[in-house]
Amino acid sequence: MLRLLSALLLVFGINAHLQAAIEPVYEGSNGIRNSVLTVCLQCHAASVTGAGRNGATSIVNFDTYAAAALWTDLLMTKAVTERSMPPAGYTPLNSEQRAALVAWQAAGFPEKAAATATTPQQSDCLFNWAEASFPDYFAPRTQSQSVPPYYGRLYPPGTVLAIAFNKLLYLGPLSAGAVLELGDVATFLSRAGCN
Ligand code: HEC
Repeated sequence: MLRLLSALLLVFGINAHLQAAIEPVYEGSNGIRNSVLTVCLQCHAASVTGAGRNGATSIVNFDTYAAAALWTDLLMTKAVTERSMPPAGYTPLNSEQRAALVAWQAAGFPEKAAATATTPQQSDCLFNWAEASFPDYFAPRTQSQSVPPYYGRLYPPGTVLAIAFNKLLYLGPLSAGAVLELGDVATFLSRAGCN
């Protein structure tokens, strides 16, 4: 299995890393909410009330984009500039998480990734290429599905090849069920001749 993964990566010819980077958008499994704000949500979520908030200001919540968007400037000050949040005694944000917040700010604190520039025709061409190149892993040939922000194909029982955030993603036995970020879609489109 490892051998095939290496072969796959070799053919794709890119730097894959096992954990997808934090996306500078609020939503998404690798977004700011899920990958950065989880520690904050222990105290700063609308569902946390009374003593459970540990004194966190009642109106300062980050559990929805609408709530968080009101406080982004203050959030940056507390979490990145001053590093006074989370308070002492709670797992501090690491440098990757702080960098992700800075990238989120630089992007204008978006909720979701901008619509991908990849057309469905290009994506389909890429998936067809993967199916033709790796029939043992991406079979039987199937139709693409759109589950925003993802566009991809499901190969039962549990393999997914998908595009989101301008990245090609793989989920399945080779990644032990985790989302593997294979790299930029643009790289694969040219590899597969799908530009
Ligand atoms: C253990 C509970 C707890 C956690 C976890 C926590 N906070 Fe707080 N937060 C507080 C308390 C208490 C206050 C109010 C007192 C203060 O400002 O220090 C507060 C206040 C704030 C404020 C408002 C400050 C103001 O001037 O009104 C912001 C913004 C904030 N927190 C951001 C965050 C962020 C971002 C995180 C995660 C990186 C976080 N907090 C994690 C307890 C928490």
